[in-house]
Amino acid sequence: MCGIVGYVGFRNATDVLMEGLKRLEYRGYDSAGVAVKVGGRLEVIKKAGKLSVLGDVLKDEKLPGHFGIGHTRWATHGAPNDPNAHPHTTEDGQIAVIHNGIIENYLPLKEGLLARGHRFSSETDSEVLAHLVEEKYRGDLALAVRQVLQEVYGAYALVVAHQDHEEIVVARTVSPLVIGLGEGENFVASDVPALLPYTRRVIFLHDGDMAVVSREGVRVTDLQGNEVRREVVEVDWSLEAAEKGGYPHYMLKEIYEQPRVLENTLGGRLSEARAGVELDLRVDPTRFERVHIVACGTAYYAAWVGKYLIEGLARVPVEIDVASEYRYRDPVVDERTLAIAISQSGETIDTLEALREAKRKGAGTLGVINAKGSSITREVDDTLYIHAGPEIGVASTKAYMAMLGAMAMLAVWMGRARGTLPEAEARTFLGELRKMPRLVEQTLEKRQEIAHIAEKYHQAADYLFLGRHIQAPTAYEGALKLKEISYIHAEAYPAGEMKHGPIALIDERLPVVVLTTESPIYEKTLSNIQEVRARGGRVIAVATEGDLEVRRFAQDVIYVPRTHYLLSPMVSVVPLQLLAYETAVLLGRDVDQPRNLAKSVTVE
Ligand code: AGP
Repeated sequence: MCGIVGYVGFRNATDVLMEGLKRLEYRGYDSAGVAVKVGGRLEVIKKAGKLSVLGDVLKDEKLPGHFGIGHTRWATHGAPNDPNAHPHTTEDGQIAVIHNGIIENYLPLKEGLLARGHRFSSETDSEVLAHLVEEKYRGDLALAVRQVLQEVYGAYALVVAHQDHEEIVVARTVSPLVIGLGEGENFVASDVPALLPYTRRVIFLHDGDMAVVSREGVRVTDLQGNEVRREVVEVDWSLEAAEKGGYPHYMLKEIYEQPRVLENTLGGRLSEARAGVELDLRVDPTRFERVHIVACGTAYYAAWVGKYLIEGLARVPVEIDVASEYRYRDPVVDERTLAIAISQSGETIDTLEALREAKRKGAGTLGVINAKGSSITREVDDTLYIHAGPEIGVASTKAYMAMLGAMAMLAVWMGRARGTLPEAEARTFLGELRKMPRLVEQTLEKRQEIAHIAEKYHQAADYLFLGRHIQAPTAYEGALKLKEISYIHAEAYPAGEMKHGPIALIDERLPVVVLTTESPIYEKTLSNIQEVRARGGRVIAVATEGDLEVRRFAQDVIYVPRTHYLLSPMVSVVPLQLLAYETAVLLGRDVDQPRNLAKSVTVE
C-alpha cells in the first residue's frame, strides 16, 4: 500500500510525479521521494514525512527533467525516515528502484550482496532489488530485471530506472500497477487517480506481467520476456470524482455521495416487474449449498450484514470470516461452496489469499469489488462490481454502502434462482430497496444534530456500540469508524451480550450508542437500553422515526427513516459515519489519512 508514479515524455517530470503522488497519498504517507533524470544522471530527493515535506524541498531544489519515478510510502520494513524512503539507488546512483510490497526472501539475498561487497544505506527489503539489478545489468535493463525476479519471491509492484536509458522497466505480482497511455508520453502508477489529469487510456498489469515504458510506447511481457497482449481500458472516472469537490475532506464528500453511489450500485439491476435482479454473473447460484464470505475490516461488516440478507431471503447457510483467520483455519470447503470475497480495493492481500484457499479447495468464487481490474477480480469466476467510484478517504464509507446494496441484490438473486424467495416477497423487498438512496439522503439531513452529539461526547475516553441481529454489524462498523479516525477507544457488542460481562463497563462517563431501529427484536434491544440507563450509562439511540418509547430511556435519539429491517443497516450506518467524522474534526484529527493506516492493505 504505497503510491508509485513513473513518467517519460515531454512534460516536467517532477510536476507529473508530485501531482500523481498527491492523488496516491491515501495509499501511504509516511515518507516520499523522486528520482528524475537531469543532465544524464538520476537525481534523487527523498524525505520522511508527508508529501508536502518533499514538495517544499523540491521548490528549492528544482529537478528539470522529463523522465522520472516517484513514491509515497507506508512503511513495512524499516522506520519512516529519509534513508528508508524510496527510490533506492545503487552506490554509483546509476540505478533507481521503487517497490510496493514485500520481498519475502530479502534477508538471505541481502546477506549474499553484503558478502559480495555491496553496501546498503537503508533497512528496507526493497533496497536489495537495486543491488541485484546492478549485478545483473549488462546493458539490457529489462533483461536484468527479469533475471532478478527469478531470484526474489513475495509481493511487488516494481519500477526500475537506469540513467543510461529513457525507459522505465516495471513488473507486478500481487501489488497493483497501472500503465497510462499518452501521445509522446507514457505513465505508470499504482492506481488510476494519478493518471486522470493526463489520460483515461490505461492498461492494468496482471500478476507476472512486466513492461518496458518509453516515450514511444509500451511493451508488455511475461517474466520470460514473451510479449503478452493486455486490454487497453478507457476508465470512466472523472478527475473531479477523485478530487474533494469542495468538501473539507474526502471522507465527508464520500459520505454525501452515498445516495448517488447506491443508485449506481443498484442501477438498472432491479426488476420489480420480474421480481428479481439482473446481475449478469457467470456463476450459477443453484450449484451451491453454502456460502462463505471472506473480507477484512469494514468489508467484513458488510459480509456480516450479507449473512443476514442471504440467510433471510435465500435460506442458504452463510459462513463469514475475517480473511486473515479464514486462510489459516483449513476451512471445510468443496465444489458446492460459493466463496465470496468483498473488497473495495480488490487488493487486500488477506482477502486475496483467503479466496485462493477456498479456490484450492474447489469452491466457486465471486468478487464483490469496487476497483475495476484489481487483483481479486482476476482470480474469481466472476465479479459483481459495486460502482462506488474512487474512494480516497482511508475510512471506508460509500464503498460500505455500495457493498450493502450488492449484498441485498445477491440475496434476492440467490433466493429467486433457488426458488426460496417467493415472488410477492421479492417484489416487496425490491420496492423497499429501490427507496434506499432517497432514505439515505434523508439521514444526511441529520448532520447538525449529530454534530451536536459529537460535541457533547468528543472528550470521552471510550465508547460502546450495541446492536442486535442485522444491526450488530452496524454497531461494529460504527465503532470501527470512530476509532480509526478519532483515535477514541470504541468497541461493539451484540446487545444481548451485555449481561455476560461488558455491562461492568457502564458508568456515567461512557457514551453507549445503541442501534434500536424497528425490528422483530426491538423490545429486546429496548430492555438493553434500560439496563444501561439503570447503571448511569449515557445512551445515544439510533431509532426509527416516530418511536417515542425510546425517548424515555435515551439521552439522545437520532431518528432514521422507516425501512425493511433487513435494510436498516443502510440508513443506520450514516449517523455513525457522521458521528465519527464530526468527532474526529473536533479533535483535530487527520480525517482522510489517520495515523498508522493506509487505504489498501496489500501486505500481510
Ligand atoms: C475501513 O474503514 C478500513 N479502512 C479498513 O478496515 C478496510 O475496510 C479494510 O482494510 C478492507 O479493505 P478492502 O475493502 O479494500 O479490502
